[in-house]
Amino acid sequence: MGYVGHRQALDVVLGGLRRMEYRGYDSAGVAVLDGAGSLTVERKAGRLANLESALDTTGRDAFTGTAGMGHTRWATHGAPVDRNSHPHRDSSDRVAVVHNGIIENFAALRAELEADGVELTSDTDTETTAHLIARAYDEGATKGDLAASVRTVCRRLEGAFTLVVTHADQPDLIVAARRSSPLVVGVGEGETFVASDVAAFIEHTCEAVELGQDQLVVIDRDGYTVTDFDGEPAQGKPFTVDWDLSAAEKGGHEYFMLKEIEEQPDALANTLRGHFEAGRIVLDEQRISEQDLRDVDKVFVVACGSAYHSGLVAKYAIEHWCRLPVEVELASEFRYRDPVLDRDTLVVAVSQSGETADTLEAVRHARTQKARVLAVCNTNGAQIPRESDAVLYTHAGPEIGVASTKAFLAQIAANYLVGLALAQARGTKYPDEVAREFSELEAMPAAVHKVLSTVEQVRDLGRRMADSKAVLFLGRHVGFPVALEGALKLKELAYMHAEGFAAGELKHGPIALIEEGLPVVVVMPSPRGRAVLHAKLVSNISEIQARGARTIVIAEEGDDTVRPFADELVEVPAVPTLLQPLVSTVPLQVLAAEIARTRGYDVDKPRNLAKSVTVE
Ligand code: AGP
Repeated sequence: MGYVGHRQALDVVLGGLRRMEYRGYDSAGVAVLDGAGSLTVERKAGRLANLESALDTTGRDAFTGTAGMGHTRWATHGAPVDRNSHPHRDSSDRVAVVHNGIIENFAALRAELEADGVELTSDTDTETTAHLIARAYDEGATKGDLAASVRTVCRRLEGAFTLVVTHADQPDLIVAARRSSPLVVGVGEGETFVASDVAAFIEHTCEAVELGQDQLVVIDRDGYTVTDFDGEPAQGKPFTVDWDLSAAEKGGHEYFMLKEIEEQPDALANTLRGHFEAGRIVLDEQRISEQDLRDVDKVFVVACGSAYHSGLVAKYAIEHWCRLPVEVELASEFRYRDPVLDRDTLVVAVSQSGETADTLEAVRHARTQKARVLAVCNTNGAQIPRESDAVLYTHAGPEIGVASTKAFLAQIAANYLVGLALAQARGTKYPDEVAREFSELEAMPAAVHKVLSTVEQVRDLGRRMADSKAVLFLGRHVGFPVALEGALKLKELAYMHAEGFAAGELKHGPIALIEEGLPVVVVMPSPRGRAVLHAKLVSNISEIQARGARTIVIAEEGDDTVRPFADELVEVPAVPTLLQPLVSTVPLQVLAAEIARTRGYDVDKPRNLAKSVTVE
């Protein structure tokens, strides 16, 4: 966040960071302009409290001034250590920048700066912008104009970013800019704010301004001015925040989980971003070579809970795309069954927290067997990626709700990327086929967004189901892991008995559970995909309907053949067969959350659970 006003900036900024700490707490930092040409910075790895005690140690007098900014970090590039903490400065310490997002072309920018003799002091993408802005401010047409300097640099950046920029020579203003990352302006009396989230300034003002894509704002005590990245005047969208502080942290939602369900399109887009360059799939810190990937002759996916379900989805994709055998194992079972692994085995360890003890121990076991381990993780620098040969980070942002939603969808997307990277390395898919699959993936955030715009029907259904005693979930093919995930969500949120089945398994016993009025959720495959699967599932539905089940069918929009068998029909967009879990999971998340809400339970903190299970 940034502040220009009549109060001591340090107090305002620290207060704002406290309100936003839930967004990330790998490190924190502040910069204050003292008005006499100096810019003072303090930054510390760890929680905000570490920064505050550092400020107490160094003394806060140096931080006197009524303009300043601060940042709490959720690390994407560079481990969460002091030198990677924001604000980042240029070599002359005249420019300070804080950043939220991912600058995809930062490597080229770093190389350019290093070629010019600039010495970079961090591993981050952010630091490059501080040097570039300082250079633009010191020379040429943008000399002495901070807004113009920031615009010049923004035009060169690729990826997602919210930047907040200060310059020691400009103690009465702050510049901020955004692309595909949040930024709002707070308008007070003789004071103005910028922040990623209204929570940062809502205690001071409820008057806010939403900024659009590729827009830049200059704030000072009297207000704000908006332009596009070419300097043309632009309009923000004023609105009044009618949330209280607690709600503001949740984006106006009652619970973080409900907000995180809404964030899933961005979580997908941010996870995919930057992984297709020059016609090829690129993973993150890939310490596994293309040759290693070519040598892989077997894949294990090890994970727990929802992460395990994302692995089950991956199995269908990887076996279909790569013609490789894939075993998906509960991490807690993996090492006790003495799995057959060797150096040509690829173990994919999927974990949102990167700290799950079961999965960590599975990784350690795999390493003793000389298998190569690739982590799929949402937490930069966590233990599991640290102990893996390679990592593919999901970029879902911090997931506060204990029940995994956006991280789960991001895991599925990341697992698809692993599959495409393997297919690319092994040549089982030609480059044009890989490109086509990737572009279908890139269309998924919009598809998920479309599902989110139609879920009021599902919330209404959830309220009507709140007194159910049990719910069954059926699916086939990639719909089977979705059925398992839907059952898990209902168990962990509404404490309701729920069970997911492969629909073909019903007649081998579970159909005895069917009785009058029992709700059964059925995840239908596309009629355009494996028609035989669709037909078999339709007959499964008629079998259970004949025995009194109340059928709730998740089906592709326009799938009219299933309509007569659905007591409730929830339509989702038509997407490619293997990508369906990304759209069919969302109504099940909403259903479970609404049942839990209706039952009066804490959706964010279900009983008996913890966000990260660091014990075996
Ligand atoms: C999912 O809703 C649960 N919170 C839980 O199953 C979770 O997915 C599991 O504990 C794995 O956690 P991880 O992804 O952090 O390893």
